[in-house]
Amino acid sequence: MTKARITVLATGGTIAGIAGSALRHDYRPGQIDIVEYLSRVEGLGLEAEFAGHQIANIGSEDVGPKVWAPLHEAILTALADPECDGVIVTHGTDTLEETAFLLDLTLPCTKPVVLVGAMRPADAVGYDGLRNFANAVRVASDAEAAGRGVLVVMGDRVFAARDVRKVRTRSTDAFRGYPRGSIGLVTPSALDWFGAPWRTDEVARFAYRDNLPLVVILYVHANMDPDLARRIVGTDQRGVVIAGVGEGNLPDSVREVLIERRKAGVAIVRASRVDEGLVDREPEDDPNGFVAARALNPQKARILLQLLLADGVSEPAVMQRAFDER
Ligand code: DGL
Repeated sequence: MTKARITVLATGGTIAGIAGSALRHDYRPGQIDIVEYLSRVEGLGLEAEFAGHQIANIGSEDVGPKVWAPLHEAILTALADPECDGVIVTHGTDTLEETAFLLDLTLPCTKPVVLVGAMRPADAVGYDGLRNFANAVRVASDAEAAGRGVLVVMGDRVFAARDVRKVRTRSTDAFRGYPRGSIGLVTPSALDWFGAPWRTDEVARFAYRDNLPLVVILYVHANMDPDLARRIVGTDQRGVVIAGVGEGNLPDSVREVLIERRKAGVAIVRASRVDEGLVDREPEDDPNGFVAARALNPQKARILLQLLLADGVSEPAVMQRAFDER
């Protein structure tokens, strides 16, 4: 069997974290560099050859365009390289879903691109980072992975970028997919897909851009003061994602603020603060000019809205189609 040639792009996170003791809970993410990480991986005897690059070595709460731009470029280089069969990105788990979705929307589906992290630092008892990495190698070595867009591998499961979300802060079983659960099961030696690829050879849906327009997330709660909403949704925002209660709902007084902002040209998307919060269109969305986020959570709805605005899309019906897409 020929070895898969995998490009590994490291950005930091707990998968590269160190606590200084096998038992401590507190630790620093982004301590091990890619050279040291791949030397630890070597001991696993995986059927793959690795080319490692350090993009950053930080906690993912600090990830943004300074990491996304070189990461996106490095992935495009790997996709164009005939010597590369697949790409793995190591990443902190806190914002992993946002990076995965941004890449999913801005990369072609030509080779496997897999994001992976860990919930326990590299010197902790029960470190999950090597297991997750070995699973990611299994997925990134499978040509069939490419036609499923950008993937996330955590806890022996494969998730599509659009579905994946972090749902726990402690357990190694910290990720879930919604509305599709996982789209495959993986171990270092076996991979079972649930269903056929649906995006084979698809081109990038959006151009990657560094300067995305300002979009704020408005977190709705009981007894919300409309003046607070007015202050949060300043005049420089191009868009607002509502993390609404229930199915993207908000108090009438706050809705009035957003209708005003919409009339001034600001794009308004209704998402939900509920974990599995599917938000469908409601009759008032038409006259209000609002968009329903469907199954995207607020942080992912924000990324899609930013890319739409950057592309010059302003028509709510056109935006709605992008939110409806799978
Ligand atoms: N600060 C977190 C981050 O890099 C560490 C959490 C993790 O990677 O699991 O996202």
